[in-house]
Amino acid sequence: MLQNVRGTYDILDDEYAKFTYVNDLFSHFMKLYGYKMIKTPVIEDTAVFKKDNDTSDMVTKEMFTFSINGKDSLTLRPEGTAGVIRSYIQHKMYAQEAPVKLAYIEEMFRYERPQKGRQRQFNQLGIEVLGEKSAMIDAEVIALGYTFLRTLGINDIEVHINTLGNNVSRARYIEALKDYFRPHSDELCADCKMRLEKNPLRILDCKVDHELEVIQKAPTIKEYLDEEASAYFNDVLKYLDALEIPYTIDEHMVRGLDYYTDTVFEVISTNKEAGSQSTIFGGGRYDNLVKEMGGPEMSGIGFAIGEERLIMAIEQAQAFPDLAIVPDVYIIDLSDSDPYTLKVAEMLRRNGFSVMVNYYKRSLKSQFKSVDRYKAKYTIIIGEDEIKEDKVNIKDNMTKVQEVVKSEDLVSYLDQKLGGNEDE
Ligand code: HAM
Repeated sequence: MLQNVRGTYDILDDEYAKFTYVNDLFSHFMKLYGYKMIKTPVIEDTAVFKKDNDTSDMVTKEMFTFSINGKDSLTLRPEGTAGVIRSYIQHKMYAQEAPVKLAYIEEMFRYERPQKGRQRQFNQLGIEVLGEKSAMIDAEVIALGYTFLRTLGINDIEVHINTLGNNVSRARYIEALKDYFRPHSDELCADCKMRLEKNPLRILDCKVDHELEVIQKAPTIKEYLDEEASAYFNDVLKYLDALEIPYTIDEHMVRGLDYYTDTVFEVISTNKEAGSQSTIFGGGRYDNLVKEMGGPEMSGIGFAIGEERLIMAIEQAQAFPDLAIVPDVYIIDLSDSDPYTLKVAEMLRRNGFSVMVNYYKRSLKSQFKSVDRYKAKYTIIIGEDEIKEDKVNIKDNMTKVQEVVKSEDLVSYLDQKLGGNEDE
């Protein structure tokens, strides 16, 4: 039997309803905070994601890269930021009034070892704010993600935050890390030995070595921040305090991608069931990326929420509402498939009522079973008499009251009964 590819999965039925619920709230939040939705292609030139000297696992080990005609190197999008920046530059969005606020709901592809909360194809809800650097924006971006999670009923979360400083501070810190790690290079894994000269920040993020004492005692950036970088970070924290967003400063957090500068953050689930894949979302500021990708010198900041992990966290908090879709009406057709049934169904749908129809000859008993299974609010019964007299037999499934209504009065009848369908 043909099967889905390892690390991918089908989103079915009830599960799909959870994605729709989350996506709808995300779209609502995007309106509240003034973001415009963007959709970029799933495939990009590999150069969109891969820069010279990249050291992140995502770029060096996890990309689905392929060539179609032996010439072009193409890659399935492993993350959203780089594609959005490519589009921002290509469409000269930097000429618009800053900041340009963009949001996306998209599939990402990473060749990782599949496990709970870690797939090879997964979905992200992401945002990027481009063209302006302000500590207010950093705080607002974190507040948006935090409030979104709280609104979904996820309360067991912690915001972890750090700064990677401006370019000057970070260069000093990187030299200090090299000096610190060189005498300990024997203790490090093979990857970290290579990272030492290329990008020692990555050593702090190593999945293999992270428990080594030499890493835990490594210098933090705090001592290397210049006045500007330190004031910027303190401003971000000041705004978070004002917004009453609790956070923990994690002085060794560098995040898994190479493009970050200044503020970086992650939101972690503290629910015991979350397991090792507990980071629900992460992001940070990137001062150099737009320029590196061929655009003008423009700062940006954003985050991406792992939607599968988000859904797991809502499940763990038991915070999903009842998402079952209940039709307003189920039509039982006792005629010989007369067009009248379809006509009544279409008339109701055109007036905003959700309608299920029986399409083929079945016993009354089996059609009533379908009404129960779909939990329809009303049952309409159409037989030869109803067709002749242009009426229907309608039953309120809650009160069990049954009435005969002329088809021309049916919409106003249901409007009245269902409160004008205000909840639709
Ligand atoms: P990231 O930390 O690589 O950042 O991914 C963000 C989130 O995507 C993670 O916190 C996690 O929830 C989810 N995620 C990552 N990999 C997987 C996977 N294999 N399976 C399931 N979920 C996963 C970024 O992607 C950046 N583009 C975020 C960003 C936007 N930074 C600035 N702007």
